[in-house]
Amino acid sequence: MTEAPPRHGGNVQQLARRLNCHPRRILDFSASLVPFGPPRSLRRALRRALNDHVVPYPDPSYQVLREAIAQTHGLDPDWVLPGNGAAELFTWAARDARSLISLLPTPGFADYRRALATWGAVGRSLPLRLHWDDGPRSWVEALAEPRTLQGTGPRRTALWITNPHNPTGQLWRRDSLEPLLHAHGLVVVDEAFLPLVPGGETHSLVSLAPRFGNLVVIRSLTKLFAMAGLRLGYAVAAPERLERWRRWRDPWPVNSLAVQGGLAVVADRVWQQRVWRWLAREGPWLVQHLDRLCPSLKVYPGAANYRLLSCRHSLTPLQQSLAQQGILVRDCRSFPELGDRWLRIAVGRRRHNRRLVTAMAAVLRDSEYVA
Ligand SMILES: Cc1ncc(COP(=O)(O)O)c(C=O)c1O
Repeated sequence: MTEAPPRHGGNVQQLARRLNCHPRRILDFSASLVPFGPPRSLRRALRRALNDHVVPYPDPSYQVLREAIAQTHGLDPDWVLPGNGAAELFTWAARDARSLISLLPTPGFADYRRALATWGAVGRSLPLRLHWDDGPRSWVEALAEPRTLQGTGPRRTALWITNPHNPTGQLWRRDSLEPLLHAHGLVVVDEAFLPLVPGGETHSLVSLAPRFGNLVVIRSLTKLFAMAGLRLGYAVAAPERLERWRRWRDPWPVNSLAVQGGLAVVADRVWQQRVWRWLAREGPWLVQHLDRLCPSLKVYPGAANYRLLSCRHSLTPLQQSLAQQGILVRDCRSFPELGDRWLRIAVGRRRHNRRLVTAMAAVLRDSEYVA
């Protein structure tokens, strides 16, 4: 049976089973999490939570967590709704979008389509240009073009934005996004990676939520704090919308360990600054070293903690050869607009980045890629 290309990164368990090794031996460049997390404070909180928070049900209103998150944004807690990862919240945003025409910049994160399909809704692709050396201004214009809205009627569209974009890593400037709030019936902005980007917070739309009832901002703690397994994200939107979502969902979608872990880290600015310093150092290092590997390999600029690569030839043999060595990179065959000539690589720690570059250099040497 041929293996389907993965829809998400991070299939570490599967590769470890295949190589018959411990998952910790796999170097994972496919899921873009901060590579030195989670913070110690999170581990400590979880140990305490095992004593105090496993037996009782979580507080169904998540009041304390909502207060802590709201405080980090200077908002009232009624504007915040914690979720079982950002992924759960996409499902409710999609329910709100089901009577609208959803516009999805492509190539893009597949989970929005999954969320829309839950309600029998489909998205309309909005192709992004795949050459963006000319800066963000020119490619953001595609979303505001009248052609995009043609045949939809006034504000009959729901626009799904990922900032920075996945898989390209392009950063949407806040001033380029703001006008879109006047053009679409609903704007869902997924800021899962934004808190990792040095200077990224200035492009967040969170502070606009009180002014725009049609705005939903979804954030994730997964990437910044390397806690994908705990499942914790949150939405910032108008209280009436969030109240509606609360009535639709399960009574306790976020478990108590995630709540306690979230409380321990959510306001940790020292951690965030450490992450910014790491990304500002390692992002350019990785690009510089990947760029030198071979002339047919192109590395695209990006603001997030991953980089997109393309090649004149299929990159599947390279990806498979790395996997044989226990190195996982993100196969892009599940993005229909990209296919097998593209890879997405997370930025790791220096010693791991070095190992990746060395392994890639060895595969690329003596191969057709040099052509
Ligand atoms: C753009 C983007 N948003 C959201 C998520 C999922 O976040 P969470 O783990 O909080 O569900 C991912 C996961 O890969 C992602 O790439």
